[in-house]
Amino acid sequence: MGKVVILDHPLIKHKLTFIRDKNTGSKEFRELVKEVSMLMAYEVTRDLPLEDINIETPVAETKSQVIAGKKLGLVPILRAGLGMVDGMLNLLPAAKVGHVGLYRDPETFKPVEYYCKLPQDIEERELIVLDPMLATGGSAVAAIQFLKNKGATNIKLMNLIAASEGLEEVSKAHPDVDIYVAGVDERLNEDAYIIPGLGDAGDRLFGTK
Ligand code: URA
Repeated sequence: MGKVVILDHPLIKHKLTFIRDKNTGSKEFRELVKEVSMLMAYEVTRDLPLEDINIETPVAETKSQVIAGKKLGLVPILRAGLGMVDGMLNLLPAAKVGHVGLYRDPETFKPVEYYCKLPQDIEERELIVLDPMLATGGSAVAAIQFLKNKGATNIKLMNLIAASEGLEEVSKAHPDVDIYVAGVDERLNEDAYIIPGLGDAGDRLFGTK
C-alpha cells in the first residue's frame, strides 16, 4: 500500500487557512497555492537519491552531495493543477512538465480525458501528479492509470486538500503511489465538492465563475 503523507507544517497550515477563506481573491489565492506547493515540494522530494561530487570551497577541496541526476516530471491535471506548477518548478527547475486534461462529467462525476501532452521519456522519470483537490479520487485514479498505460512506473500524487474517500480510492486503485497532502477534510457534498474544502480550485485560481 502506498503511504499517505500529511504535511501539517505550521507554515503550510497557516497558508492553507487563507487559501480556504472565501474572501481571498484570485491574486492572493494563486500566490498562496504557489507557496504551499513549494513547501510541499520539500517533502515530496525527500527520497531523491544523492551522489558525491568533488568541489573546491574558497579554502579547501571537499566532497559534497548533489541530486543524482534523477529525471523528474510534473504532471498537472488541467486546469487546477496548473496552479501548483510554478511553485514546484521554482525548486525543481530541470523537471519536465506534461499535461493531462480531464474534466468531471457534471452528472456522473466521472473523469473524461480531453488533452494529453507528456515528455517522451516518461518511463524513465519520477512523475509527480499535481491537483489541488482530491475529492472522489476519480480524476487522479484515471490520470495515474493513463500515465501507467503510457509506460510510467514511478508516480507520486500531490494535493492540497483531500477527502478520505479520494485517498481510499487512489490507494485501492494504485497501491504503488504515495500521496502527499496538506490537509484531509471531512466529507464530500452531493455535488462531490470537498467540505469544508476551498470551493472550486480552478475557478478560484483563474477568477472564473
Ligand atoms: N474540485 C474542486 O475544485 N473542489 C472540490 O471541492 C472538489 C473538486
